Amino acid sequence: MTETLSLIDLFAGCGGMTVGFAREGFRSELAVEFDFAAAATYAQNFGESHTFFGDIADLPDEDIPEVDVVIGGPPCQGFSNLGSRDVDDPRNKLWKEYLRVVAHARPKVFVLENVQRFSKSAEFDLLLAEADHGCIQEYELRWGVLLASDYGVAQRRPRTIVIGSRIGAIDPPTPTHARIAHADLKPWKTVKERIDGLPERPSTTELPVRSTDVFDGTVQGPFSMEELHFGRNPRPMSLERYDHVPPGGGRFDLPDHLLPRCWREKTSGTTDVMGRMKWDAPSLTIRTEFFKPEKGQYLHPQWEANNPARRVNRVITHREAALLQDFPDHYRWCGSKTQIAKQIGNAVPAGLAAAVARQVKAAIAAAGQENDDDGFAEAV
Ligand SMILES: C[S@@+](CC[C@H](N)C(=O)[O-])C[C@H]1O[C@@H](n2cnc3c(N)ncnc32)[C@H](O)[C@@H]1O
Repeated sequence: MTETLSLIDLFAGCGGMTVGFAREGFRSELAVEFDFAAAATYAQNFGESHTFFGDIADLPDEDIPEVDVVIGGPPCQGFSNLGSRDVDDPRNKLWKEYLRVVAHARPKVFVLENVQRFSKSAEFDLLLAEADHGCIQEYELRWGVLLASDYGVAQRRPRTIVIGSRIGAIDPPTPTHARIAHADLKPWKTVKERIDGLPERPSTTELPVRSTDVFDGTVQGPFSMEELHFGRNPRPMSLERYDHVPPGGGRFDLPDHLLPRCWREKTSGTTDVMGRMKWDAPSLTIRTEFFKPEKGQYLHPQWEANNPARRVNRVITHREAALLQDFPDHYRWCGSKTQIAKQIGNAVPAGLAAAVARQVKAAIAAAGQENDDDGFAEAV
């Protein structure tokens, strides 16, 4: 019989990381999130009773259950040279809180997720120091920068994953996918595999009018994935711009008369801006403002050079962004359009989290097996 493993998700957002761990059979016992709409989305999908809506600093020690795994990482407060390796430095407050929860929950394993350059940050130094001679010295750390597309997600999103374990070091999982299939690696999943077949022209530009009560307040929603497929009302000038951009192209494909002055003067860099996705490749990172074409490569991939009628001149919808972030079709969302976009863009793609979950689950099972074998050896 396989036992379900329990987890705490800290800084849980709308629950992207939990979705991945749940896919591998983990059960969420507690989630902590202080953004009202994000916490409401988490509660909607995983249950309100164990979703702590509030600042992690206000989570009482006695409400922290012992679990198998703690997941989630404190957002770094900028990457200027914080410099301080002192856990009591007020700037390290979130790390102190994180370590407090780990100390009370006594997980076998914790998994921290963060931005790519995390391993160059003062926060990372602090973590290493705590693992070396501080409050998590029982735990061995392993880390790496993982690309979501290497784990079956249709998105090239790099994230740092740190795995802390007190049951023996656990390496980050090895890739299951590659740009070009070889040996036992499958080819990267493509945008086409995730969003092909959805209506090219959404029938509305609005979310339905609906609200629900949660955490003694009221939030917009819940909304289904289908209801997140709404369009926008771009200006004629914007539509003209989109029409010039082929798949993989961007602002450099615009004719001079359509360039805003700031872009005309900036002749290099920011190549993703006003970019169009490609059907046959993963997308680039989906950020919190994916609904603004001037913020990245977010134009719908459908575009034919010789057939203007076969061009879809719009940004991806919230539904398409959520699918590229690997959320399942049954996920439910709370908040305004902007709040939901923030939840989607902040999430860890479920497929990436699931790959880490598989690795952790296997290590916990192997450690349990070893204990059983030891027990058997002692008994005979
Ligand atoms: C990068 S997002 C987490 C995304 C999440 N792991 C997922 O996969 O969906 C970080 C979250 O930390 C939350 N947060 C930041 N400071 C917090 C605090 N002091 N207490 C609780 N939550 C906090 C933010 O509101 C944000 O939703």
